[in-house]
Amino acid sequence: MDALLGETSRPHADLDLVVSADDLPAVRAALANAGFHRILRDWLPTALAVADETGREVDLHPVAPTPDGGGDQRQPDGGTFHYPPPVAGTIGGRPVRCVDARTQVLCHLGYEPTIKDRSDMGRLARLGITLPEPYRANAGEAAEWDGPGGEHRVKFADLIEAQLRRLNERFLAVAAVGTRDRVLDTGCGTGQSTRDAARAAVEGIVVGVDLSEAMLALARQLSAEQGLRNVSFLRADAQTHEFPAASFDLCVSRFGSMFFDDPVAAFTNIGRALRPGARLVLLVWQDRDHNEWSTAIRSALGGPVPAPPLTGPNPFSLADPVVAEGILTEAGFVDFATVDVREPVFYGRNTEIAYDFALGFPSTRDLLAGLDAPTTALERLRATLAAHDTGDGVSFDSRAWVITARRALDTQG
Ligand SMILES: C[S@@+](CC[C@H](N)C(=O)[O-])C[C@H]1O[C@@H](n2cnc3c(N)ncnc32)[C@H](O)[C@@H]1O
Repeated sequence: MDALLGETSRPHADLDLVVSADDLPAVRAALANAGFHRILRDWLPTALAVADETGREVDLHPVAPTPDGGGDQRQPDGGTFHYPPPVAGTIGGRPVRCVDARTQVLCHLGYEPTIKDRSDMGRLARLGITLPEPYRANAGEAAEWDGPGGEHRVKFADLIEAQLRRLNERFLAVAAVGTRDRVLDTGCGTGQSTRDAARAAVEGIVVGVDLSEAMLALARQLSAEQGLRNVSFLRADAQTHEFPAASFDLCVSRFGSMFFDDPVAAFTNIGRALRPGARLVLLVWQDRDHNEWSTAIRSALGGPVPAPPLTGPNPFSLADPVVAEGILTEAGFVDFATVDVREPVFYGRNTEIAYDFALGFPSTRDLLAGLDAPTTALERLRATLAAHDTGDGVSFDSRAWVITARRALDTQG
């Protein structure tokens, strides 16, 4: 997987090598020379796992070469598994030949996937393959938020609180959490909005849901430090998790509801968790071209700026009120309304902090990955941030919607 993506996605327990069965003795000898003497599992002719003294493991998958340039691996049940011809990849900058993404996904079917499997397959989905069930729902987003995206938001949690302060106040005013409300916060991240809701719902409860374990860990820690007892956090996909039916009076989401790969399914699922008539209050970005923080950073990086799709997971997927209303109506919500919110967003006390912060955004990473001359682009990014440093820190204009709706009274739980 890492060879295909050209990056180290996580620490790995082993290295998988597909080798011609004829070459197996030579490969074993070479590995033994390199210290891999210990046989961990001998499942030949299907597989052989060897390890060295430090516990590093290599799994060998012998194949009988086939005319297409690939190979067939004998299976324990007597059948064969076909590896198509290898494709180009890199490890540590060195070119290698590796198993293509589709075949790697096939190797992870037939059992209940672990979170690690889901995250790995999600990373492979970035290569443009369609994932089969059970990897489909939000696999790519889970890989991002439970990986680099989540780590970035944990590292900059304080700054994000400051970044969104003005928008958050406007959002909370519309949310108007009641003292007895049972509140669901979807895509709660490190839980600032969850804690804000908990402080208002003094006789109620608040549940924050997110895909990122790292962000939830910080959310739990901060809630405990702040003495909040009516708040809990759940690692789950809001699109598919089976919430108790009709168990919440209000669902809030601060920039956490634009990343569903099937928004109608997601809001239908959230709607089931709400009692009939319960309110939905979402803070979402308006159009990308109306958000200076996005246009300025993108034009500084100078890469191609493809238009974001109107639906599907991206920060602007609910930017068009007509699209958002269509999704929510289909999902069983009524009384759709929007509040236009225009407030500056803060990027840090100085250019250096803002630069570090901006570098970790998924969109920045994607843009940089597609550039031939990232150094020049990074210099332009620094200059753009410096130009927005007022002396009191770096700020950009932003525009968001607070979307409100209600679960229809006549939908069935
Ligand atoms: C831009 S962040 C916003 C986080 C937080 N609400 C805040 O304002 O700081 C988007 C959040 O949505 C979460 N998210 C995305 N898709 C999700 C899903 N299907 N289920 C639950 N959380 C999701 C991400 O993990 C991430 O924490």
